[in-house]
Amino acid sequence: MSGLSIKLKTPHTGEYEQPTGLFINNEWVKGVDGKTFEVINPADESIICSVHEATEKDVDIAVSAARKAFEGEWRKVTPEQRGKYLTKLADLFEANTDTLAAVESLDNGKALSMAKGDVAACAGCLRYYGGWADKIEGKVIETSHDTFNYTKKEPIGVCGQIIPWNFPLLMWAWKIGPAIAAGNVVVIKTAEQTPLSALVAANLIKEAGFPPGVINIISGFGKIAGAALSSHMDVDKIAFTGSTVVGRQIMKAAAGSNLKKVTLELGGKSPNIVFADADIENAISWVNFGIYFNHGQCCCAGSRVYVQDTIYDEFIKKFKARAEKNAVGDPFHNETFQGPQVSQLQFDRIMSYIEEGKKSGAKIETGGKRVGDKGYFIAPTIFSNVTEDMKIVQEEIFGPVCSVSKFKTKEEAIAIGNNTTYGLAAAVHTSNLNTAIEVSNALRAGTVWVNTYNALHWQLPFGGYKESGIGRELGEAALDNYTHIKTVSIRLGDALFG
Ligand code: NAI
Ligand code: MG
Repeated sequence: MSGLSIKLKTPHTGEYEQPTGLFINNEWVKGVDGKTFEVINPADESIICSVHEATEKDVDIAVSAARKAFEGEWRKVTPEQRGKYLTKLADLFEANTDTLAAVESLDNGKALSMAKGDVAACAGCLRYYGGWADKIEGKVIETSHDTFNYTKKEPIGVCGQIIPWNFPLLMWAWKIGPAIAAGNVVVIKTAEQTPLSALVAANLIKEAGFPPGVINIISGFGKIAGAALSSHMDVDKIAFTGSTVVGRQIMKAAAGSNLKKVTLELGGKSPNIVFADADIENAISWVNFGIYFNHGQCCCAGSRVYVQDTIYDEFIKKFKARAEKNAVGDPFHNETFQGPQVSQLQFDRIMSYIEEGKKSGAKIETGGKRVGDKGYFIAPTIFSNVTEDMKIVQEEIFGPVCSVSKFKTKEEAIAIGNNTTYGLAAAVHTSNLNTAIEVSNALRAGTVWVNTYNALHWQLPFGGYKESGIGRELGEAALDNYTHIKTVSIRLGDALFG
């Protein structure tokens, strides 16, 4: 791989081999246009390295490699063998946890302990879908005595997958797992902010024994490689995780090209509702984790906190104290909970929301400022004294910033919980079973957590109502987004219209 990998160091692993090329057909190649781009360490703003950039021509090459694999050998690979490949990949993720996690922390800025959790979840997800590969079944459907009908679930074909930077490896596994289990082939474009871990994982694809062309991984920019993938005439499906703005563009690109199938996992502004009868210490821990986990860079972040009026004052006091205890700092320090935001751009976006909140009359209970003078660190921030029409209460901030306000009744909690164009997640904290079920039923969100938060698991479907997306990831449900149903109807008797 001379010229297409370099030696890098992380504080956790020492030296390791970082691939920098495009992974197409199980080989490392340069982009046709010979372009590269820089990868930044968000903890100190230094340049880690440069990687090769895919442009339209490379997307064409990757798509035709995938097409060739799909129409050729991959079709003959048994479901059992597909399962074995995925299971092997899961084992390799576990065996390489230290390197994968350290690269993730270096490039994305998340705390090493969290990155290790992500790698474990990748392995869990890949192994889970390995288990599904030979359990994807059709039905026999009776219509009359002289007809035999059955359905088959067939792979969709070449899947373009565009992933974001907040969970670079985990989104990779969420996308690859169900697609491959169902017999598809993929071209994944990683986020330009965080290309490194996916390239390390690409070597594991080869090691797991996947045939060439089945999984192709390219680094590149959204407007160039991402747009080329979503408008490509030979891509059968596009799966996207990222902003709602780009989600709309992806749908337009699909509509304007070959009407490829579209699944979207977009933003959120999830309500986290605390009733007076909740265990307050537990509720505060979950509210804290709900917004500050991954530095607030979660599509399901609990960014709108609603607290019943009778416990509001106590809640604010204790929540503020809890948020101030979160250790913000070097991702490689053991005690760190929160690292830097991913990029200068995201840092600036979040800081401008904080300014906007102040201007609109909201009160900063804690945080609201940068931490340190190098790296994109922002203190955990709580706004109170907010009104529903404020930008900071309506728009996704994607940083360690939440708003807290009061409600009186259950009906009011449901109404404000649903007062958003999004519908990805929501949570209710209460010790009353009826309240838990009634409010969960009434919230228009794809996932509702009760007395917990961010309880994501590969067995549980995840996705959005309203403008938070289309389709589901994870669980059995994701397989529906990666299969076509084919109906076969066989006439057993004589011709009907002789
Ligand atoms: P983005 O939506 O621009 O980026 C996500 C992915 O889409 C990246 O791989 C990017 O290269 C690609 N992309 C960008 N433009 C594209 C296009 N025209 N065609 C095809 N692909 C394209 O998100 P960005 O700018 O990094 O973050 C902006 C905001 O998006 C965040 O502040 C946050 O609110 C939201 N976001 C939500 C995520 C989620 O998990 N749902 C993840 C990342 C961002
Ligand atoms: Mg980076």
